Order: sequence, then C-alpha cells, then structure tokens
Amino acid sequence: MPLSQRATLTRFLIEERRRYPDASGDFNALILDIAIACKAIARAVASGALGGVLGNHGGEQASINVQGETQKKLDVISNEVFMRATEWGGQLAGMASEEMDDPYPIPEGYPRGNYLLVFDPLDGSSNIDVNVSVGSIFSILRAPQDLIDSGRPLAAEDFLQPGTQQMAAGYALYGPATMLVLTVGSGVHGFTLDPAIGEFKLTHPNIQVPPDTQEFAINASNSRFWESPVKRYVDECLAGKTGPRAKDFNMRWIASMVADAHRIMMRGGVFMYPRDTKDPSKPGRLRLLYEANPIGMVMEQAGGRASTGREPVLGIKPTSLHQRIGLVFGSRNEVERIERYHAEPDSYRDTNPLFAERSLFRD
Ligand code: AHG
Ligand code: MN
Ligand code: MN
Repeated sequence: MPLSQRATLTRFLIEERRRYPDASGDFNALILDIAIACKAIARAVASGALGGVLGNHGGEQASINVQGETQKKLDVISNEVFMRATEWGGQLAGMASEEMDDPYPIPEGYPRGNYLLVFDPLDGSSNIDVNVSVGSIFSILRAPQDLIDSGRPLAAEDFLQPGTQQMAAGYALYGPATMLVLTVGSGVHGFTLDPAIGEFKLTHPNIQVPPDTQEFAINASNSRFWESPVKRYVDECLAGKTGPRAKDFNMRWIASMVADAHRIMMRGGVFMYPRDTKDPSKPGRLRLLYEANPIGMVMEQAGGRASTGREPVLGIKPTSLHQRIGLVFGSRNEVERIERYHAEPDSYRDTNPLFAERSLFRD
C-alpha cells in the first residue's frame, strides 16, 4: 500500500474508539501527546553530537559549555520532553519516570485527569554516544479512584499496580526509522514515522511474536553470576545441533532493551536479563514499572510471553516505584521452557562442574 494511504496514528485511535465505544477520548489525546514527545525525542537523537533545538549535546554528562549554558544529558532532556508534552492536557493525575526519584504531580493550573503515566524516557542511553538505536518506553495506568475523587496529593503507592492493570503500553524506537509500537489492550500495532509529514503511519498492524525461535539475547559477560536454570538454557542453545535442542542458535545483544524487544517483535527470539548473584541487593537489572511491565504487555498482546523465570511479570504487585526485576520475554515456547527449567528440580546444578565447584564454598 502506498505510504500516503496508510492510516495515521490519529485515525487508528479514532477507529479503535469506535470499536470500543466505552473507551475515552481523553485516552486517545494522551497517546497522541506521547507520540508528539517521541517525535521530539527522535529529532534530538537524530541530531547526535550536533545538538539541536532541544539543546542536546550527545549523551555526555550534564556540564557547562563554553557559552556558560548548561548542557543536559539526553535522557534528562527526553524526560522533560515527556513531561511537557503530557502534563497540560487534563488526562493525567501524575507521572513517574526512571529519571525522577519521586512521582511528579500535575502542576497547579493544569486540570487533573484519570490516568497515570509511567515511562523510561530514553532506554539504552549508553548507546547514544556510539550512535546505536535507543528508544522510549511508556505505560498508562488508571489512577486510583480515591486520588481522582479526593484531590489528595499524589503518592508513589498510586503507581504500585500490577502490569495486568495497564490500560496501554508501548515504546518508540529511534533506529534507522523511528517507530511507535503500541497496545491499547487489543493486539499490538506498529507505526512508522513518515518524516516527510511528521506523522506516525500504521505499517505493522497486528504484530505477532513467532512462538518458536533460534535466537537468544543475554549479556554473556554476566554468565558467572547466572542461576543454574539460565545457565542450562544458554548452554543448551550454545550446544546447537549437537546438543539437546538439536538445532543451532544465534545470539544478539544490542544493550538497548527496547531495540532487542523490537527485533523479537519482528522475528521472534528470547531476551533475558535474569535475576543473578552479581549484586544480591538487586533482584535483576531492569525496572518493573517502566521497563518490564510495558514491554511485558506488548509481548503478551502479541502472543509472546514475559516472565521473571518463575512467574508472569504482569502479575507481580510492585512494592516500590523503581523496583528491579529479573526479566525473560519473547517467543512463547522458549519463555515457557525457561520457566520449566526454573520449576524443575535443579539437576543441572548438581551435575555441572561450575556449580559443583562453587558449592565447595557455600557448604
Ligand atoms: P537505561 O538506558 O534506561 O538505563 O536502560 C539500559 C538497560 C537496557 O536497555 C539494556 O538491555 C540493559 O540496560 C543493558 O545492560 P548491560 O549494560 O548489562 O548490557
Ligand atoms: Mn531503560
Ligand atoms: Mn533510561
């Protein structure tokens, strides 16, 4: 279909709303404002070290430039772009993000709405300096009714809802093309930014994650810290045709979860940033509310699966705003296999020399 005939994001949302007459117009306005934020961030990212209208100067630390102007890190700038694009419209009761320790209430003077927005404004930001794809991740929750009714101050607890409660979730990917991938609870749809007119156009309706894969993604430099079910899974992949899986696997690691997730959305695969023993105070690397839950909802809405290895991610009741979690997602049959390995008696630990050696110290 010629690009000019494709549905824009606006048209898609209006038509979805017709299919679900209970859906609120507010909600569509919020998603369109998020899309505006993503377009602005896409421009800032594309300017790279040149900087641009948003004052971005690459991914460097905030510093004072020769003119005495403060240069901000691109993830801080992206955070501000998200806030400014969405705080004014009357849809939100508050927001929370990776870049803010505390929840952000809607400023006086703007109407308060019924939704909460949670986001990672720039995921994979260590890739900025090397010009590798990054993205933004977002999740929309309904605000607790008593917050809406009472007008009491916003609290971190308002955000501590399991991922099953998300009203919508998605991500933008700032890659060779800028894409917005979105679920409002009825499948996952991908939109590509048409730079000629600055509109997102529906290019990937009804994305389905293939249930099987021969591709996995994990940071192998952490392997000595992995728990044995993860070690077993990866060892079996590496053993390829000659191992128990009887097929060769390929490995990819972009170090921007959003880009790894998008590859998996397009052609299948499994992504793991599991709980490990590297830092016992951290139950995983990635954040539940604005990384694991939105990507988890997108995966599950596309027929994939998202898990900690032990339980579905979306069922977890969060205990803090910036909580970390072990995360495994992607092709359904592979994620289920990894869950099985976690559930089975740990024969791999007993027979694997690596773990046998370690147990000398433990016992
Ligand atoms: P962020 O840039 O928002 O802090 O997230 C980075 C995350 C995630 O995108 C990626 O998968 C992971 O960190 C990379 O971790 P390693 O540096 O261990 O590869
Ligand atoms: Mn991130
Ligand atoms: Mn980030």
